[in-house]
Amino acid sequence: MTPFFYDHRLCSLAAAATPLLAAARFLISVKEGMTMDWEPWQALQRKSNHVVVKLLFLAIFVVLSFRLLFSLFDEFRPVPVSPADMAAREAPAESMVADVLGLGDDINGNRCDLFTGQWIPNPSGPTYTNESCRFIEPPQNCMKNGRPDTEYLFWRWKPNDCDVSPFDAKRFLDTMKNKNWALVGDSILRNQVQSLICLLSKVEEPVEVDHDEQYKSRRWHFHSHNFNISLIWSPFLIKAEIFENDEGVSKSESRLHIDTLDHKWTSLYNSFDYVVISGGQWFLKSAIYVENNKVVGCHYCPKLNLSEISLEYAYNRVLNAIYSFIKTSEHKPIVIYRTWTPQHFEHGEWFSGGLCNRTEPYKAVESGGRDVDNFMRTIELNAFAKAVAAEETWSGARLKLLDTFQLAVLRPDAHPGPYRAFHPFEHGKTVKVQYDCLHWCLPGAIDVWNDLMIKLVMDE
Ligand SMILES: *[C@@H]1O[C@H](CO)[C@@H](O)[C@H](O)[C@H]1NC(C)=O
Ligand SMILES: *[C@@H]1O[C@H](CO)[C@@H](O)[C@H](O)[C@H]1NC(C)=O
Ligand SMILES: *[C@@H]1O[C@H](CO)[C@@H](O)[C@H](O)[C@H]1NC(C)=O
Ligand SMILES: *[C@@H]1O[C@H](CO)[C@@H](O)[C@H](O)[C@H]1NC(C)=O
Repeated sequence: MTPFFYDHRLCSLAAAATPLLAAARFLISVKEGMTMDWEPWQALQRKSNHVVVKLLFLAIFVVLSFRLLFSLFDEFRPVPVSPADMAAREAPAESMVADVLGLGDDINGNRCDLFTGQWIPNPSGPTYTNESCRFIEPPQNCMKNGRPDTEYLFWRWKPNDCDVSPFDAKRFLDTMKNKNWALVGDSILRNQVQSLICLLSKVEEPVEVDHDEQYKSRRWHFHSHNFNISLIWSPFLIKAEIFENDEGVSKSESRLHIDTLDHKWTSLYNSFDYVVISGGQWFLKSAIYVENNKVVGCHYCPKLNLSEISLEYAYNRVLNAIYSFIKTSEHKPIVIYRTWTPQHFEHGEWFSGGLCNRTEPYKAVESGGRDVDNFMRTIELNAFAKAVAAEETWSGARLKLLDTFQLAVLRPDAHPGPYRAFHPFEHGKTVKVQYDCLHWCLPGAIDVWNDLMIKLVMDE
């Protein structure tokens, strides 16, 4: 099982490495009669001891250095707007949100903006441990995997104008008697659900009553409260044909039906009282877009003769389809949209030795997040603000924004990093390990997402 890679063969910047990958594949298939999709450099170093191969490699390297240089200039092509464009769009997004809401309120109309603040020291630490919760999946169980530093556990989120305390699991379960929750999304959302279950299992441990073959969609039942949590695996939220093998290696571009929601969650929608939805990193992958059952274009498929469709257009289309479904559905659960997750790879990208080795949060001024992350979240804020503005016509459907983006941006220290694997440096510090700077350690900073989510629904 390598759940980590499901979300990591995604970065649009991977496009820059395409020529290298192609060369690596070519070389390796010449020498070994096999193909290799991963870690081309390492593979080459191991396998290219033959002089001829070395020479060939050198020649190709010189050529590719130039190609790589050019493709780096192209790296924003997958998001066909320049960073300057993105910055320019930031302003209208913020003011649109401010127009919809009163100043000083958060986007949900709460008097205190829960999502603007800072991380402050919290000597009492997390409310559960790697030992008290048995629902932590191995790649996020950082302590068990040997992460040596523990400072990342001792921070709490302090909104500027109010306080958030850890949510009261007993009060929550009592309130949620006979209710059904669904959380729909990708592996970051799964990460959040594990945290939620750990926080709740202090009061009652649930029983897993259902799951799909790969344990990606799962359902838990809290017997004494007749309360259920469903985790629904739907990384694109829409109908998608994904061509990946079990290791998460793409065989060809995904086909995304950007006007058709994923039946997996819409077919169950009527049975839920609360639905948490989040889009995410999978949208950064190259993909063929289908509308009305016709291919309308593609997002970064240089090899196919298709017109480029902007990520902004496609993501907007998806979000609008979701809000329009919520709006027109007869059933009116409370719907919470959780915003984009930032990643914190430094000193490289996820595919080129990038890592995250900080041990403290950023101060707010130190980081504004990456352009592409801000860009995607801005699209989400705009779509949400538009949907809220139309709420009067919704006849009672409720919609809330769980805008965890900024508070997550400030926590480069809270990812598993190398400790997604069990004792990664067992065989020495120099061993090359893949870092995870996208998912979150449990316990850890992601627990606060649930504190805020519960606060949003309990402070009705
Ligand atoms: C929990 O973490 C501690 C280190 O903080 C470790 O000694 C212990 O073995 C871990 N237990 C489990 C069950 O992961
Ligand atoms: C929760 O799931 C259990 C077991 O599948 C089921 O018996 C129960 O009716 C469900 N509760 C609600 C509130 O839907
Ligand atoms: C690409 O598509 C365009 C427009 O559909 C067509 O005119 C052109 O011949 C195609 N090129 C190739 C190489 O197929
Ligand atoms: C993090 O890694 C970088 C690059 O290897 C290194 O320069 C830096 O000193 C490391 N920081 C810490 C806190 O280990």
